[in-house]
Amino acid sequence: MIETRGQRILIDPFLDGNPTSPVKSKEVKANFIIVTHAHCDHFGDTLTIAKNNHALVISDDEIASYCSGRGVQAHGMHIGGSYQFPFGSVKLTPAFHGSTFPDGSSGGMPTGALIIVEGKTIYHSGDTGLFSDMKLIAEMNPIDIALLPIGDNFTMGIIDAVKAVEFLKPKKVIPMHYMTFDVINTDPADFKKRVQKMGVDVQILNYGESLEF
Ligand code: NI
Repeated sequence: MIETRGQRILIDPFLDGNPTSPVKSKEVKANFIIVTHAHCDHFGDTLTIAKNNHALVISDDEIASYCSGRGVQAHGMHIGGSYQFPFGSVKLTPAFHGSTFPDGSSGGMPTGALIIVEGKTIYHSGDTGLFSDMKLIAEMNPIDIALLPIGDNFTMGIIDAVKAVEFLKPKKVIPMHYMTFDVINTDPADFKKRVQKMGVDVQILNYGESLEF
């Protein structure tokens, strides 16, 4: 969750089915929900939270249509496009992954997102493997904070995520997408050690922890 100017923006709220999350969907307050792809561990509780809060879902056009067809307000966009929302701007970026809903509906292309709030640029890569156009993303949008998966198996593992940091040159990195399930168990401290050697700060955020930036 990003909080800025009284607005709360959730990204991929997977809570009720998440064995490690102490927070459940009914407690969550949000104004906007950014969804990177349709997998159940990302789309998660989007519909419930959006309905409870009259929140606006922001996603690629296929996921936005899936939501609006289920009684939720949604703003559809697509890769390469940006849009100014009341909290700041969102630009969808490519991700190399899948995006099919558990019921077989298409979620279109998976995405990442560049989110610019209060002049700070946050890059959330979504679930993805490493790709060299991360260099282009960073060249055109100097990144303050990068959120990168490190859990391996479904996404980049530690070694590839370290290379992503080299491509992205962010001021700070927050690792994500690890330890939720056994198959993505990995050691974020190992990632931190490797990235800090490159002179980039890493913040490991545990459940309930926050970072002011
Ligand atoms: Ni996924």
